[in-house]
Amino acid sequence: MTLAQPHGGTLVSNVIADNERESFLKELSRVPFLTLDARELSDLVLLSQGALSPLSGFMDRQSYLSVIERMRLPNGLLFPLPVVLSIGETLYRKLGKGDLVALKTPAGQIVGGLWVSDLFERQIEKEAAEVYRTTDRAHPGVHYLSEVSPFAVGGTVRALESFETDPFRAQQLTPDESRRLFVQKGWNTVVGFQTRNPIHRAHEYIQKCALELVDGLFIHPLVGETKEDDVPASVRMDCYKALLSRYYPKERVILGVFPGSMRYAGPREALFHALIRKNYGCTHFIVGRDHAGVGSYYGPFEAHDLLKRFDFDDLGIVPIFFDTAYYCRLCGSMASHKTCGHSEDSRILLSGTKVRALLREGIAPPPEMTRPEVAEILIGHYSSRVDSPERVA
Ligand code: ADX
Repeated sequence: MTLAQPHGGTLVSNVIADNERESFLKELSRVPFLTLDARELSDLVLLSQGALSPLSGFMDRQSYLSVIERMRLPNGLLFPLPVVLSIGETLYRKLGKGDLVALKTPAGQIVGGLWVSDLFERQIEKEAAEVYRTTDRAHPGVHYLSEVSPFAVGGTVRALESFETDPFRAQQLTPDESRRLFVQKGWNTVVGFQTRNPIHRAHEYIQKCALELVDGLFIHPLVGETKEDDVPASVRMDCYKALLSRYYPKERVILGVFPGSMRYAGPREALFHALIRKNYGCTHFIVGRDHAGVGSYYGPFEAHDLLKRFDFDDLGIVPIFFDTAYYCRLCGSMASHKTCGHSEDSRILLSGTKVRALLREGIAPPPEMTRPEVAEILIGHYSSRVDSPERVA
């Protein structure tokens, strides 16, 4: 086996080179501009770095409809989530195909440009029903849709290599960089791990089980926008660093950051997460319990069911599925029902809600659930917060 081929075969790179930067920014300062929200900004970073290959820009109407209806791009390539740029009605009416638009951060920095290839109206209700399988506004993905403009602009983008508003740029590996690093390490097989939560023992267990099967582990925490009540990315990264230095084999693990935003689209997002990790060079991808889920909108193993519908020709990456992992007192180790036949009362499996309640009280969760080094960082985070709103797990 060798590193995975990029999705669609070619790695896109739409980063503005240093020697073009000045003239490009000058050109952008003379054209109409659009201010991107946090999700759109993360999408711009992903698009310009090639993480969403084969996409080289925000979707046009044809791709948008094809993706929400069939989970495929018009050319048949699997692609389960729309990547759309919203636009206000005034600019929507003013722009035409071929126009160049400057893309700004909410702080007003011009970070890229888009060449308009299409202007269209988004089908918000349909998009919610297809992508999230609910139109309930309590769902964070649906809530986002309910607030964006229904007008959208599609087209190829180019963006700066780094933005002022991107605190994790230094820790990022672009798809090109991670591929080169994997090659340098001599890895032929690499398993990717997506996460948006602080690392716990079940994460560690499934990562290490997967690492038994492949050459390297690419831990790829998502650092773009998450729900307000998810633990901030900087705290999660501190947990990872503390843990990696003590419990992981240095030469077989790479910690990156994934600059994308969470959609909370459950099964579709699990498929998306798997496909785009190919662009980073991963040959395998971990899909555990309720991947990218929120509340009880998706069954805990629906992501497995969706990925199992496609063969390797379609996926181009090997999913490694995990059942719910827990600590079993009688086994004296982490386990799942596949490896442990003991009854439920021998298991230590606290809910996320219960763990957060303990942390807010300054009580460390049991070490069978959370390593003490991680618990200490999390208690520090919770005790420094004035409010501690409850999140939908
Ligand atoms: S996610 O939204 O990024 O999927 P999270 O960080 O909680 O959320 O999960 C990261 C990965 O670990 C996902 O593949 C998820 O399915 C898996 N996972 C989390 N907890 C468990 C568990 N107890 N047992 C098995 N897999 C789990």
